[in-house]
Amino acid sequence: MSDESRPSPPEPRTAAVIPAAGRGVRLGPGAPKALRALNGTPMLVHAVRAMAASRAVSLVVVVAPPDGAAEVRTLLDAHPLPERTDFLVVPGGESRQESVKCGLDALPDGVDIVLVHDAARPLVPVDTVDAVIEAVRDGAPAVVPALPLSDTVKQVDPRADGSPEPVVATPERSLLRAVQTPQGFDRDTLVRAHTAVTDDVTDDASMVERLGTPVVVVPGHEEAFKVTRPLDLVLAEAVLARRRLNDGF
Ligand code: C5P
Repeated sequence: MSDESRPSPPEPRTAAVIPAAGRGVRLGPGAPKALRALNGTPMLVHAVRAMAASRAVSLVVVVAPPDGAAEVRTLLDAHPLPERTDFLVVPGGESRQESVKCGLDALPDGVDIVLVHDAARPLVPVDTVDAVIEAVRDGAPAVVPALPLSDTVKQVDPRADGSPEPVVATPERSLLRAVQTPQGFDRDTLVRAHTAVTDDVTDDASMVERLGTPVVVVPGHEEAFKVTRPLDLVLAEAVLARRRLNDGF
């Protein structure tokens, strides 16, 4: 059989897990963060659409607040995705890590690549999503999008009594990166990391690092910022307004 007539191997199937079970207390009082509206549409819906925008993503698993899975399901039914994309909603856990594990446990057979994407990063552009998937397809077991820092970072000795915190060290800024999501993984690697690592961590890639497995960085995007504080909502609305203007031309 010539190379041209040989059937090409099936593309690896990619699913995105979106932990959306946090309360978002730093954003102030109100609905759980993922359900706050941005330009009239809940942040979670923007985040799900951002994953579904990639033609490679065939399944989105949303991890809802433990008592809010039915509400999230109704919400997603009301905001249809492209026909090629399925979605599942599962209840989450006490920590982000537990919530991601709930999402991983719900993945069907046949999924080889898993993205983990914070619901709190609703505006990540599709090119960033595709770059992460591409790097995993090219053989990296774990991939994170990241940007250089503009602020200098100090390590401090935290003081519980509110007194000024002494500075302990200043890491060299040029060696630091601010890490975003979606983070992309070979499925088996991520499942092993979630089984082996039980310490509290703030991202999934650091669990893979603990296994001694290499993690690589691809360029992140300024629009993939995390909506954490009230000012981030203002910025997110401004980004959406700019996109609307640009789409008009
Ligand atoms: O708190 P933080 O901003 O790091 O949360 C990141 C993401 O993890 C958010 O999308 C949040 O909804 C999610 N999360 C979760 N389950 C928790 C805590 C946070 O799914 N118990």
